[in-house]
Amino acid sequence: AKNVGILALDIYFPPNCVQQEALEVHDGASKGKYTIGLGQDCMSFCSDVEDVISMSLTVVSTLLEKYEIDPKQIGRLEVGSETVIDKSKSIKSFLMQIFEKYGNTDIEGVDSTNACYGGTAALFNCVNWVESNSWDGRYGLVVCTDSAVYAEGPARPTGGAAAIAMLIGPDAPISFESKLRGSHMAHVYDFYKPDLASEYPVVDGKLSQTCYLMALDTCYKNFCQKYEKHEGKPFSLSDAGYYVFHSPYNKLVQKSFARLVFSDFLRNASSSTDEVAKEKLGPFAALSDEESYQSRDLEKASQQVAKPLFDEKVQPTTLIPKQVGNMYTASLYAAFASLIHNKNSSLEGKRVILFSYGSGLTSTMFSLQLREAKHPFSLSNIARVMDVAEKLKSRQEFPPEKFIETLKLMEHRYGGKDYVTSKDSSLLYPGTFYLTEVDTKYRRFYATK
Ligand code: ACO
Repeated sequence: AKNVGILALDIYFPPNCVQQEALEVHDGASKGKYTIGLGQDCMSFCSDVEDVISMSLTVVSTLLEKYEIDPKQIGRLEVGSETVIDKSKSIKSFLMQIFEKYGNTDIEGVDSTNACYGGTAALFNCVNWVESNSWDGRYGLVVCTDSAVYAEGPARPTGGAAAIAMLIGPDAPISFESKLRGSHMAHVYDFYKPDLASEYPVVDGKLSQTCYLMALDTCYKNFCQKYEKHEGKPFSLSDAGYYVFHSPYNKLVQKSFARLVFSDFLRNASSSTDEVAKEKLGPFAALSDEESYQSRDLEKASQQVAKPLFDEKVQPTTLIPKQVGNMYTASLYAAFASLIHNKNSSLEGKRVILFSYGSGLTSTMFSLQLREAKHPFSLSNIARVMDVAEKLKSRQEFPPEKFIETLKLMEHRYGGKDYVTSKDSSLLYPGTFYLTEVDTKYRRFYATK
């Protein structure tokens, strides 16, 4: 199989949202802390009738329907998620309901979990399968689904919720340059979920930021080495059209790209050879790695130098993460979906670099080539099907009090049994799956609007 990659995408996020500006007021935070300090505009959240299973059922159904894919044509289905509903039964097994109806139970794959990286692991598994001897000629399907919720405190505004489905196969408009991958994996306690009675993570915010940026640097170094080995010339930021980052909040994405610009400067790579950059970044060249992560002056100077390149190569990827929030496993792919939404067919012929990060930690930088493809898998059709603008616009804004109230209810219900939900599907689109009941044996039941 040639040009294996993503043939089609769809995204789903809950219609309930809260404005970050309103949350600032409610939380008594200083004005601009969430909107400028974190760079976030709005946050989607699940009401009591939605969860990671309902969102994934919805997005898989809409993808199959909108691209007219016969469910029998799916041969592998992989899910990435870090939202634990069951310690044994996979989310993938719930999704089998869609395929059993059509008599297709011959579908490999289960769930992958490591914080926000599970979706990338699932994606690599599917791409590798299509490229392998065990491929049976059918499509792979990857689902990233998460609801990011935090305990009261500074991390709470960095929540969000969404599910993304990606169809995998040959001759894709979004094809993998599989030789170009750099990873970094290590053991740290920056963000983890050891308390099985709670949906909330234990998070060391500052440490997680530093771990993210260190992982980015290491992945970039490994990526550049592989590129040079493979292409016979050094890599610089000018060798790709766009850069897409896992996006817990937008400020970290700004810092990340600035870090890559600084790295290019240190390596004397071509994108930052201009004199202004040299003058501004020169004073920081002698810092040790450790010092460089702590230097506020470097952070400021490199963000300033990176600004024009950021506007060109990163800004078009930021829409959904800023509007919906951190979607954990779906976050990177929602950023990528934003790029397709904004640039669609003008992306043909362009290389796009993605950086995936999951706390704990696991991270990979990898490369995609965007190409022309036949209907229904053209980039412009993908943008049309995802209909991001309409989905964002038709959300309902809730006051912070209602958001907090919902979180309280979900805290109470998490891990629980023997309850019926409000069954209130009034805000949901037709075709959306929603949770109706968890019975005395913890079995979950869903209906479709
Ligand atoms: N106007 C403008 N900016 C402001 C204002 C204001 N009124 N007040 C604060 N800020 C800025 C700060 O200067 C800071 O910006 P900087 O980093 O450029 O200096 C930013 O807002 C954040 O404020 P802090 O006080 O530094 O941090 P806070 O205590 O609010 O915590 C954090 C932020 C650590 C991101 C927290 O939300 C968190 O723990 N989130 C979850 C962890 C996370 O997302 N980690 C990322 C990788 S791992 C993952 O994906 C889960």
